[in-house]
Amino acid sequence: MTTGPQTSYRVRGGYPLQGTVFVQGAKNAALKMIAASLLADKGRTVLRNVPVIEDVRRAVELAQAVGAVVKFHEAERTLVVDASELTSSVLPAEIARRFRASVVFVPALLHRLGEATIEGIGGCNLGSRNLDFHYRGFARLGCTVDERETTIHIKARRLKGAHLYLDTPSHTGTENLIMAASLSPGTTVIDNVAMEPEVLDVIEFLTKMGANISGGGTGFVTVEGVRELKAVEHTVMADRIDAAVFAIAAAITGGELSLVGASLDHFGVVRWKLEQMGVEFSTHGAILQVRRGRALRPINVITSPFPGFATDLQSPIMALSSLADGTSYIRETIFDGRYTLVGELNKMGAKVEVAGDAALVHGPCVLKGAEVVAHDLRTGVALMLAGLAAEGETVVSPGYLIDRGHTSMAGRLTTLGADITVTRAADQADGGR
Ligand code: EPU
Repeated sequence: MTTGPQTSYRVRGGYPLQGTVFVQGAKNAALKMIAASLLADKGRTVLRNVPVIEDVRRAVELAQAVGAVVKFHEAERTLVVDASELTSSVLPAEIARRFRASVVFVPALLHRLGEATIEGIGGCNLGSRNLDFHYRGFARLGCTVDERETTIHIKARRLKGAHLYLDTPSHTGTENLIMAASLSPGTTVIDNVAMEPEVLDVIEFLTKMGANISGGGTGFVTVEGVRELKAVEHTVMADRIDAAVFAIAAAITGGELSLVGASLDHFGVVRWKLEQMGVEFSTHGAILQVRRGRALRPINVITSPFPGFATDLQSPIMALSSLADGTSYIRETIFDGRYTLVGELNKMGAKVEVAGDAALVHGPCVLKGAEVVAHDLRTGVALMLAGLAAEGETVVSPGYLIDRGHTSMAGRLTTLGADITVTRAADQADGGR
């Protein structure tokens, strides 16, 4: 497995961003579609607008590890998957440990090979991220789930439609159980499902493949099992988190950007919160224009499932609110380990305190460049955003965590007028030459 060299992002702040940015395809839809394409036992699946990010490379490696022939044409952002021959039911530790979404490969392995073994499970450092809804759902569909210390083995006895539920509307849990139910004979009803736009895009993809799914976007879904799913072509939706990160980049630098591929409908509450802070959106045909014309106002944010405020944007809006005129209140309700930005942002001069399960951001502050640590993907991106508005130089590392979820951040931001360089460990050792 390749993870690339140890990289850092060096950001020299103070430049208002201007220009046009192309929003990438949605990470959290593409990953599930790569796994879903393994449900088709003949033909080749073509996925377009696939983001060129490290998590997609890990998903490709996993698909290849179980025997699929996968070609990622990165320049064309197109992935071609031929899953006619699957040869292994084991998702190997060296990939799965670094990639929590590995569990989405389980339905294809169950249907194609009768069993799946996950040798490790990884992902962002977001506190306790359980997968019990997934395993309970597989069990209700007729699997045995054997959890050992370092591996999980799931065996399909006789898969059969069932009534399933999620305790909370888990994003990946919804997609995974829909995939598992799609080829299970009979009717499956899943209560309390997620309504994120990516879930609907995955349902659209599975429907093209021949799945019979109804109720997407309503909170409960019915799946009538079909006998086979076929390989199809699909264009992955735009990434609403990537789009909102660039909207915040415009706001934090006092610039103005045209976003190609962004849909305000996918922002949910994020749109209204940014507007309350003083960010202005306007739609010009297919282009979303975003600017900040006045001083930022403080904000109250409580993260919740879509259309609520996306947890993935909690760190970016914390960085933005450090510049707002007054105290902002931010409460994370989805992940329990998602305030790792606080210490790093404070190193840059912000005044953020964690009070119980909320964070109070006392603005406005003057952000100053510092060496900071990206504890997870979204913290890393938030620190890049803070660096864009900071005096002096900010060094964010490890860059790999940002590259997990965003295509060429340095390249795209530089085109918009930012001063960013990528530094590799060897470069750092010899003074960055
Ligand atoms: N949860 C359980 N049991 C489960 C599943 C989830 O207790 O079986 C809990 C989790 O521990 C967490 C909460 O439910 O506290 C929400 O988890 P969810 O399953 O919705 O999250 P996810 O599907 O694992 C996806 C995205 C995340 C995004 C969340 C919320 C992917 C690959 N990941 O995670 O994306 O934050 O939904 O929208 O789709 C990111 O892109 O940086 C990222 C972390």
